[in-house]
Amino acid sequence: KSEKMALSLSGMLLVLFFGAIMYAAVVEDIQVPTCITDMEPFTSDTLFQSGPETYELQMVARMWAFQPSTVRLPVGSTVDMYLTSQDITHGFMIENKNVNLMAVPGAVNYIQVTFDEPGEYFFACHEFCGAAHHTMSGRIIIE
Ligand code: CUA
Repeated sequence: KSEKMALSLSGMLLVLFFGAIMYAAVVEDIQVPTCITDMEPFTSDTLFQSGPETYELQMVARMWAFQPSTVRLPVGSTVDMYLTSQDITHGFMIENKNVNLMAVPGAVNYIQVTFDEPGEYFFACHEFCGAAHHTMSGRIIIE
């Protein structure tokens, strides 16, 4: 009897977890970072407009800077962001945005992010990467 209860209880938990994931994905529009496997790691940064309000940004992390370190985009921009590293593993997070990526040498990580509010969005490395880790930062200016 108690086994049956444990089984149905864990079944209910599964449904609950799945529901939470679906809620996050659909209602809150939370994006999950993706490791891109069909893309060669790039060595230099690029930024170009890929649609009326969409941009593609390829960002490179290295000791101890991000390239580009300053990005300017208009309000309402949706950015397809690709991130890689030239040396060791770095982190990448954007203040006040739900963005948290790792910059891994030899790999490309992807996330899509939309900037609906004007302002300066500070970003920084959040993985300790050596002597000047704390200087590894930049900003995205939405105007
Ligand atoms: Cu790069 Cu810390």
